[in-house]
Amino acid sequence: MTMPAITGHGVFTPSLSISNDELVEAFNAYADRWNAENAGAIAAGEAETMTHSSADFIFSASGIESRYVLDKDGVLDPARMFPHLAARPDDAPGHMAEMAVDACTKALDMAGRAGAEVDLVICAASNHERAYPAVAIEIQQLLGAGGFAFDMNVACSSATFGIQAAADMIRAGSVKRALVVCPEICSAHLEWRDRDCHFIFGDVCTAVLVEAAEEAQGDHWKIHSTRCATQFSNNIRNNNGFLRRTHDQMEDRRDMQFMQNGRKVFKEVLPMVSAHILGHLDEEGWQADDLKRLWLHQANKTMNDFIGKKVLGRVPEDGEQPNILQDYANTSSAGSIIAFSKHSDDMPKGARGVICSFGAGYSVGSVLLERA
Ligand code: COA
Repeated sequence: MTMPAITGHGVFTPSLSISNDELVEAFNAYADRWNAENAGAIAAGEAETMTHSSADFIFSASGIESRYVLDKDGVLDPARMFPHLAARPDDAPGHMAEMAVDACTKALDMAGRAGAEVDLVICAASNHERAYPAVAIEIQQLLGAGGFAFDMNVACSSATFGIQAAADMIRAGSVKRALVVCPEICSAHLEWRDRDCHFIFGDVCTAVLVEAAEEAQGDHWKIHSTRCATQFSNNIRNNNGFLRRTHDQMEDRRDMQFMQNGRKVFKEVLPMVSAHILGHLDEEGWQADDLKRLWLHQANKTMNDFIGKKVLGRVPEDGEQPNILQDYANTSSAGSIIAFSKHSDDMPKGARGVICSFGAGYSVGSVLLERA
């Protein structure tokens, strides 16, 4: 059977970033304004005082030090707390398509391929800029790709689920060359005014090119096997779907942005992920010791430390389980691919590793790779 492979990968990183200190300063200014504006209601016991955020808490609870964003001014404006991302006119490339073209071009260049040689584009992301036409089809056109394209959404697991779809189609022979691209504009679905989660996300876009290993023109990673699993949970949810009405109605609706019960997610997802990776290894006859690297979803450092230890049966050594969340924060589906893209070049031929993403759904996806 055809062995699919990742032959190219690329990351688009926005030029703007926000440190924890900058973020907390803006949040605290917003909280002070809110408390002043609602002083009457607070005094009457009808509203609670909004408490300040803390950069020390953010770092110790999550490991995040900074995040990249497409727009900084809007997020840090205490009177706004939301990025300026104007809807693009219908005849101009959308925000997602624009960042996708950058990441895809990097992936294609690495693989020595042109856009015209691609016959599948999967735009796999947590949130899409519009309902239709699919963003993936716009990316397909901008790259001059052929074949077909579609959007998919499995929240933070979108990249690995997309890689499984692409790898399966390459094995089946229905496509020759697929781009799985994850433009994550998380700043637009984060509630920056909510102290419990305002620090969590950042913006980025990743792309991987998947084709048959025998077609690879250079260095590549054989995709040995993929596994996806889902189990319904409301503990990470965003209701901003097609039933959304006007912006005014949205303003008052906290459920129209990212919401989570972080503690429960932590407790429930951890065992699911480590059991999933160990089960996947076992089914393929791989041992945990075979894994030279774990490229995990990037949501929380403590969570990743725990998963690494559980899977390897010991504390991972330096570099075995690279984190990028200190610089990028949680970038939803893109996180594990950024870790892979930035921390795989040094590995020798024959080295094995696993990309694993997990998140809302719940969902978990793993991709077993071997450097060819
Ligand atoms: N600044 C200062 N203190 C804060 C704060 C902030 N921004 N946000 C919360 N706190 C406080 C809380 O008020 C609480 O105080 P209390 O104990 O006096 O009541 C304390 O910190 C603990 O809050 P909690 O929300 O329980 O923190 P946590 O240790 O669970 O960490 C997360 C929060 C979100 C970082 C953590 O739960 C997490 O990462 N969970 C998994 C998330 C995940 O993977 N999500 C997937 C998303 S795709």
